Amino acid sequence: MKGALPTVLLALLSGSPASAGPVQRRQETVTQTITASAPSAPTPWSWNAGGSQAWPIHESCNATERALLNKGLDDAAMLAAHAKDHVLRFGNSSAMYQKYFGTAPSAEVVGWYDKIANGDRSRFKFRCDNVDGNCVLPGWGGHWRGENGTDETVICPLSYTTRKPLEGMCGYGYTVATGALSFYFGSDLIHRLLHMPSVGEGVAEHFADSHAECLKLAHENPAEAVRNSHTLQYFALDAYAFDIALPNEGCSGKTPKKEGEKGDKGGHGATPPPPTTTTPSAASTTSAAATECHTHADGAVHCS
Ligand SMILES: *[C@@H]1O[C@H](CO)[C@@H](O)[C@H](O)[C@H]1NC(C)=O
Ligand SMILES: *[C@@H]1O[C@H](CO)[C@@H](O)[C@H](O)[C@H]1NC(C)=O
Ligand SMILES: *[C@@H]1O[C@H](CO)[C@@H](O)[C@H](O)[C@H]1NC(C)=O
Repeated sequence: MKGALPTVLLALLSGSPASAGPVQRRQETVTQTITASAPSAPTPWSWNAGGSQAWPIHESCNATERALLNKGLDDAAMLAAHAKDHVLRFGNSSAMYQKYFGTAPSAEVVGWYDKIANGDRSRFKFRCDNVDGNCVLPGWGGHWRGENGTDETVICPLSYTTRKPLEGMCGYGYTVATGALSFYFGSDLIHRLLHMPSVGEGVAEHFADSHAECLKLAHENPAEAVRNSHTLQYFALDAYAFDIALPNEGCSGKTPKKEGEKGDKGGHGATPPPPTTTTPSAASTTSAAATECHTHADGAVHCS
């Protein structure tokens, strides 16, 4: 046995001309295939190259901000995805739908929510560096950068310490009718996403602010209700609360009768201060900004 192995190895290594031929040819063939095809292989065409489903969070955000912003944006997508599912399931036969969108056809509503939940995320950006200096303004949770960066939104430190997670839906005494639209980070960010031109397309805008005004708009102008960013926030919150968070109960609450009593006024701290050069759309957001922060009798400044 000791002498057997070297004999076999020798036989394999030297081989006979008859057996070496095919092996060598096969090796040559393999080598040629690799060298010939690798460099000249065409780059496969990818229709969605450059697109992204990751939230675009600027390098100015630290680890804490990045984690909380990612969570908030996931919440926004979850709210929007459920709102879409509700409309796809029930269309205009849903009482919840009629409450906020009246007799409007449902396709545009589905579209806005789908854009927020599933749209490409490479075309806008969230940053944390207070680049325009607005985060020093009392009560500002963030703002769309307007002419300084049309597809950029700054989220100020205040947001990370005040905005609630979606898991807390219907908690803390919150009701949809009386709560601020920025109470939950997810709903706040739906608003901020709609301000980005690549999402809101400049038509999802401000047509009504408070809960009472939004309900009125559903009756009086359904075509505007389906593009009203506050209405889109309210419906998503109400549907999620009733269908998911507290099934068949929700926390719709009672719409405050008197304007300004409670509930959401201007909306966000999402809009920039009066810019020096005003475009028509910047002018309309400026007027919204004017109503969004107000000083209460106790001296506290409230912005949503
Ligand atoms: C719902 O949509 C249908 C068309 O699909 C329309 O005929 C009907 O009037 C709508 N109902 C409401 C309450 O908007
Ligand atoms: C990140 O920034 C926030 C302010 O927005 C601050 O409270 C937090 O401590 C910072 N986190 C780290 C890890 O530095
Ligand atoms: C844009 O930048 C200028 C200069 O920094 C600033 O005064 C202005 O408030 C910024 N605009 C917005 C919308 O933040």
